[in-house]
Amino acid sequence: MKKFVFENYNALSVYAAQYIVNEINSKPDYVLGLPTGGTPVGMYDEIEHMYKKGMVDFSDVKTFNLDEYLGLNKKHEQSYYYFMNKNLYSRVNVKPENTHIPNGMADDFAVEALNYDKQIKEAGGIDLMVLGLGPNGHIGFNEPDSELIAPTHVVSLTQETIKANARFFSSENDVPQKAITMGVGSILKSKKILILVSGESKKEAAAQMMSNKITTQNPSTLLQLHPDVTVLIDKAADSE
Ligand code: PGA
Repeated sequence: MKKFVFENYNALSVYAAQYIVNEINSKPDYVLGLPTGGTPVGMYDEIEHMYKKGMVDFSDVKTFNLDEYLGLNKKHEQSYYYFMNKNLYSRVNVKPENTHIPNGMADDFAVEALNYDKQIKEAGGIDLMVLGLGPNGHIGFNEPDSELIAPTHVVSLTQETIKANARFFSSENDVPQKAITMGVGSILKSKKILILVSGESKKEAAAQMMSNKITTQNPSTLLQLHPDVTVLIDKAADSE
């Protein structure tokens, strides 16, 4: 794991955007895995700035998002489709048919999950998977547990995650209890991984992620098994 520490969230966001833009410029038909949440918002803002300056072209880029809540349609303001449309799709020239998010309204989630991993494979695999880190160590919605599921699957969210995400909803009761997420296997098959970690609440999870121990009780520790992981972390989240 390579680690870069930043003075603050803004510096981290700018670096993350530059990293992604450089990657896309090295391979125009880039396959990008993308996160939602509070952390990547600054990165998406900066990508928009760079796009407007003509520094990047998304016309052949394919994107695959990590996860989606179950039961929220695309128009729901807290659906991850809505988030992605607002923060990226509507701001750059990515083609709608090249963007992918697991369907939280699918009739059959087993089929949806299988198809999602199949689509990633057919696209040639993910070149760069960008991740956030949950305060409990989750990546995507792979929550701490005694076992983890490798492929894309439906998951019940932990109370901790429901609490952490309640800030985006009117109340904790409105947070969906389930989601569909890429599994840790789907994530680890990506050629490169970039993880963004910001804020005091991530300190403990991040320290475990970068320790020498692997545990399913902190899914991010599995990233230690991947040969090309870059951690972008701000001072507030870094323990050293
Ligand atoms: P956050 O979430 O960026 O909103 O803190 C990260 C995550 O839960 O993966």
